[in-house]
Amino acid sequence: MTIKIDIGAPGESYPALIGAGLLEQLPVILDEYAPAYRYAVISDDRIGPLYAKAVLEQCRSSGKKVQLYSFAAGEASKIRKNWSKLTDGLLDAGYGRDTCIIAVGGGVTGDLAGFVAATFLRGVSLVQVPTTYLAMIDAAIGGKVGVDTRAGKNLVGAFHPPKCVIADPNVLATLPDDERSAGLVEAFKHGAILDAEYYDDLRADMDLLLSADPEAAKVAVAGSIRLKGEVVTQDELENGYRQILNFGHTLGHALEAASGYSLSHGAAVAAGMVMEAELGERLEVTESGTSKALSSGLEGLGLGLETIPQLDPEVVMSFLSSDKKTRLGRSRYVLLRRIGEVEDAEGWSQEVPEPLVREIIGSRRENN
Ligand SMILES: NC(=O)c1ccc[n+]([C@@H]2O[C@H](COP(=O)([O-])OP(=O)(O)OC[C@H]3O[C@@H](n4cnc5c(N)ncnc54)[C@H](O)[C@@H]3O)[C@@H](O)[C@H]2O)c1
Ligand SMILES: [Zn+2]
Repeated sequence: MTIKIDIGAPGESYPALIGAGLLEQLPVILDEYAPAYRYAVISDDRIGPLYAKAVLEQCRSSGKKVQLYSFAAGEASKIRKNWSKLTDGLLDAGYGRDTCIIAVGGGVTGDLAGFVAATFLRGVSLVQVPTTYLAMIDAAIGGKVGVDTRAGKNLVGAFHPPKCVIADPNVLATLPDDERSAGLVEAFKHGAILDAEYYDDLRADMDLLLSADPEAAKVAVAGSIRLKGEVVTQDELENGYRQILNFGHTLGHALEAASGYSLSHGAAVAAGMVMEAELGERLEVTESGTSKALSSGLEGLGLGLETIPQLDPEVVMSFLSSDKKTRLGRSRYVLLRRIGEVEDAEGWSQEVPEPLVREIIGSRRENN
């Protein structure tokens, strides 16, 4: 059975549909939620042969006008050069305002194709068909689209909610193992900030989720979409409450950058969550034992702290202060009260004493 979750957005809300086999029903879903004169499927060159070509054929055989546009897989492709190529391609092919862009792929595809949809002729409709855990539970939900720049990731973009999100857990069967665990880190994050029961369910189903069992994946993806959906519905344009989604990310981003991006986002955020929980414990905001509990949960994903290379604390600190999300030049942290609950004493994030941060990063090194 398909699960439908409505996500709030400025203007109108949109549904996220989660169900095994939904990809085969795409033309019918498009007719219902995103009717258009012409469609453009945008996908990377790994997903093209796996799924996007099939999507194209189905749309064609249901009588839709549709073309496929592809780019090289990988984060390095999420750049303005590809945005230019894609928008020029659409203009050359005579696409008009009655166009719908269908993004079939991971978060890179969703962000890049979404930015094309946000800007092409000042905005055309968009359907997100996420194919990674990360894209299903995180990137495709919330309307943020954009590209990376020389100065940093995601610095040029827009809010452009889709007409619908279609998550078919069957596609996770071909997702590489490391991409599965990296994406599930964000599901753990949703549990850690909002729902202890969901967090426990993830732990209990870990093996099924790592093997991409469609039923377990459907339930977990729907659980995360519901949680992230509630947050973005309450804070459609990222003015406050959405900050809680940043738990683990202040230190996570700094670790990722300090490793020269040899560390995956998932592994860095996993470590960031454990270390930020420790910060909270030291400040007596977070229930004692939370950091250990998170650490053992994330070990189930193969992403325990021991997977983090030794990094110079000063280098990590330097990336903290250059983070674009600082306020008045100071890093802010989302702190837990306990698993399933966030502290909101000074708004949803707060400053913490820098020497304590340095100490926690440093002690990690000694423990190695
Ligand atoms: N917009 C947002 O709110 C938001 C939130 C979180 C992350 N993001 C962005 O998402 C991106 C990361 O997303 P990602 O991890 O999905 O990366 P990705 O899109 O690069 O996908 C990872 C790799 O897996 C391949 N792949 C995707 N689905 C597959 C499948 N079903 N089978 C086999 N291979 C498959 C892709 O071709 C790619 O090589 C980052 O750019 C990040 O900034 C955006
Ligand atoms: Zn993240």
